[in-house]
Amino acid sequence: MDSQYLPMSEAKISVLDWGFLHSDATYDTVHVWGGRFFRLDLHLDRFFGGLEKLRMTIPFNRDGVAEILHNCVALSGHRSSYVEMICTRGASPTFSRDPRDAVNRFMAFAIPYGSVANPEQMQRGLHVAISRTVRIPAASVDPSIKNYHWLDLVRGLYDAYDRSAETALILDMAGNVAEGPGFNVFVVSNGALMTPASGVLPGITRRTVFDLCAEIDIPAVAGEVTVDALRSADEVFITSTAGGIMPVTVLDGRPIADGKVGPVTRQLTELYWRKHE
Ligand code: PDD
Repeated sequence: MDSQYLPMSEAKISVLDWGFLHSDATYDTVHVWGGRFFRLDLHLDRFFGGLEKLRMTIPFNRDGVAEILHNCVALSGHRSSYVEMICTRGASPTFSRDPRDAVNRFMAFAIPYGSVANPEQMQRGLHVAISRTVRIPAASVDPSIKNYHWLDLVRGLYDAYDRSAETALILDMAGNVAEGPGFNVFVVSNGALMTPASGVLPGITRRTVFDLCAEIDIPAVAGEVTVDALRSADEVFITSTAGGIMPVTVLDGRPIADGKVGPVTRQLTELYWRKHE
């Protein structure tokens, strides 16, 4: 926290921090696999981009943050780790309502790597429900800034659990597919990939999928993804730092295509993990 390394149990933050009171914070998560960070540069780009848009400052540059993250991993002792960097607005020493008076806080942690999907789900594909909670675009929440405004996503999760699904996909106001709690989504139809273009976090794993598709000549575009396109897809998968590329085989209780993990998802998953070697 700031310039101190602490055991997790001693890392404390004020309840008056605007990160807690107003969700006035940005963060990024990156994973470490076999002791190596995966695409740390892209995560730092997104984190520093978020700081700039939110007009927050931290007393470290990119190299400084990278060094802190490496130290957190080394101190934690985890070779496969989930690493999070956070900047909150902080608290104002005078309780003022002017965000410029707050002292921005920086913190980072490394915990054991955990995936959105467990090994069984990776084998058979996730069961997903379309959330009844629609994403209402709030002018104040720019989805390109990685943020903790997860009320729609968490309601989506409960909505999915109520219907015996394992995770959720959320729609935008136009009824198109947006994203899920901590992941982007892709549909595969007739050998081409499509993922929602706007109203979503530009995921680094999503970007890696585009890179892989370019390498193996599979067409991939960002555009509008309708619920019909999702239901009639040949394959669906989700992408996140926490899990990489993860298959989806059931949507609202019905199988997607033949309900099995498809060949494009398998190929991309294999290539994705090969990038970690
Ligand atoms: N989640 N959409 C949202 C809302 C996310 O929070 C995330 C990342 C993604 C995927 O982005 P990336 O591929 O860069 O991880 C999409 C992180 C991993 C989390 O849940 O902590």
